[in-house]
Amino acid sequence: MRTLFILSTIIFWLAAGGVWLADYLRATPPEQTAPAAIAAPREYSLADVATHNHQHDCWMAIEGQVYDLTGYVPAHPAAPEIILAWCGKEASQAWQTKTRGRPHSPYAQNLLPQYRTGKLRQTP
Ligand code: HEM
Repeated sequence: MRTLFILSTIIFWLAAGGVWLADYLRATPPEQTAPAAIAAPREYSLADVATHNHQHDCWMAIEGQVYDLTGYVPAHPAAPEIILAWCGKEASQAWQTKTRGRPHSPYAQNLLPQYRTGKLRQTP
């Protein structure tokens, strides 16, 4: 009788331990994989920007950032040649003054970030 009691106690605790272990293994998340490296902003030189210098491929460097304005050029409200003249170029001053001594509106300034494609590489 005593042996039976000891045996059933052992079996009980083995079963309880098994249940706990199974639960623990299920709840433990799989080993985390290393997060993908956060991509550094792409950098372009003015020479890179200069290769995107026409209506269907129009990049500009404005205030240290590089913008791909190809998608915006057809929507720009001024005569096309006004903005096209700046494709492939450093266009900060043109952007700041519209070449007419007037800044773009806050609305225009809000449009710009969505066309950012990278940073202008500062050459020493
Ligand atoms: C960098 C070369 C650019 C030049 C020379 C230029 C020039 C002009 C000119 C002459 C006008 C019309 C006249 C006026 O409103 O006073 C104008 C209006 C406008 N431009 Fe540009 N633009 C340039 C780039 C851009 C870019 C990159 C955007 C937006 C992504 C933009 C957005 C607008 C908008 C929304 C207007 C309507 C008026 C306003 O909101 O200021 N322009 N721009």
